[in-house]
Amino acid sequence: MGCSGLFLFYWSVIVSLAAIAFADDYDNYFECGFVEDRGNYTANSSYQANLNRIVSQLSSLTEFNYGFFNLSAGESPDEVKAIALCTGDRTQDECNSCLHRTATELIQRCPWHKEATAWSEFCLVRYANRDIFGQLESEPRTCAFNTRKASNPVQFNDGLSELLNNLSNIAAAGGPLRKYAAGNATAGNLQTIYAAVQCTPDMDKQNCTHCLDDGKAEFLNCCYGRIGCRVLRPTCILRFESNPFYHTAVPLPSLPPSPTPPGPTTSPTSIGG
Ligand SMILES: *[C@@H]1O[C@H](CO)[C@@H](O)[C@H](O)[C@H]1NC(C)=O
Ligand SMILES: *[C@@H]1O[C@H](CO)[C@@H](O)[C@H](O)[C@H]1NC(C)=O
Ligand SMILES: *[C@@H]1O[C@H](CO)[C@@H](O)[C@H](O)[C@H]1NC(C)=O
Ligand SMILES: *[C@@H]1O[C@H](CO)[C@@H](O)[C@H](O)[C@H]1NC(C)=O
Ligand SMILES: *[C@@H]1O[C@H](CO)[C@@H](O)[C@H](O)[C@H]1NC(C)=O
Ligand SMILES: *[C@@H]1O[C@H](CO)[C@@H](O)[C@H](O)[C@H]1NC(C)=O
Repeated sequence: MGCSGLFLFYWSVIVSLAAIAFADDYDNYFECGFVEDRGNYTANSSYQANLNRIVSQLSSLTEFNYGFFNLSAGESPDEVKAIALCTGDRTQDECNSCLHRTATELIQRCPWHKEATAWSEFCLVRYANRDIFGQLESEPRTCAFNTRKASNPVQFNDGLSELLNNLSNIAAAGGPLRKYAAGNATAGNLQTIYAAVQCTPDMDKQNCTHCLDDGKAEFLNCCYGRIGCRVLRPTCILRFESNPFYHTAVPLPSLPPSPTPPGPTTSPTSIGG
């Protein structure tokens, strides 16, 4: 297909002990990973049935929820908990179809694991047999880079570092609906770099910052001098490219008005006695 040329330039590196299954094409980008010691489920078990229910839920979403979902199916000890996230620039239709494909592919390509994570072009899906909401996680993780090199890696990297720092601050300061930021910067030779970073919005500011800081550190290992790269973790993702890969962010609702301080003299609804 037409995108095979891009694939030739894209390689994935396993940057942790967790096992990663990598897929083969840039437009249908997909990777899944798991940590070895988290246990397996067996065929026809209740756990498998509950996991299938999670996949069905993610395949029939009617809400958008600004691209973030916290789901569960079944009862302890076979309860499956899941978190799903779309990048902040994707519409409801794009998000729902990404989650449907990614969840379906996750159980096919990384089967039998009680806990696993999948990343694809616009979304991530993870599930486990334990509480994962709000928990910072660093495994499994992976990094995929474009094998083409920047002509001026030092300047390129300086521009990129500053951009990523700015974007990380914006993303981490985001509210409980979304922690996402995207932007561009000019690096050496007046080349434009485009980057986007995002935490799952169940992370608080500190854990989001921590996740993105670890991701930025990984950039120095895996992404240095590349013209495009992604660092993928269960609770945050970072990406940059030399072409504008993101769309305008989908608007969030405006904040509700801050509550009026309580007290009989300030309450507009109080009735004089
Ligand atoms: C879990 O399944 C994988 C393959 O699907 C296998 O390699 C591994 O040994 C299994 N682990 C346990 C604890 O059974
Ligand atoms: C699981 O169920 C299917 C369909 O009912 C059956 O064909 C298969 O043998 C079962 N597998 C196990 C391991 O029980
Ligand atoms: C997330 O889902 C879990 C499992 O269903 C539930 O216990 C928890 O209350 C949810 N958290 C939020 C903030 O919705
Ligand atoms: C941050 O993540 C850690 C590790 O999972 C977790 O124990 C902690 O509760 C999280 N912090 C907050 C404020 O949610
Ligand atoms: C980063 O933010 C600072 C302060 O707002 C700004 O001056 C600078 O131009 C930004 N740099 C990039 C690359 O976005
Ligand atoms: C870079 O981002 C700014 C907004 O921060 C935007 O106005 C500008 O058009 C972008 N440049 C390119 C080349 O996309």
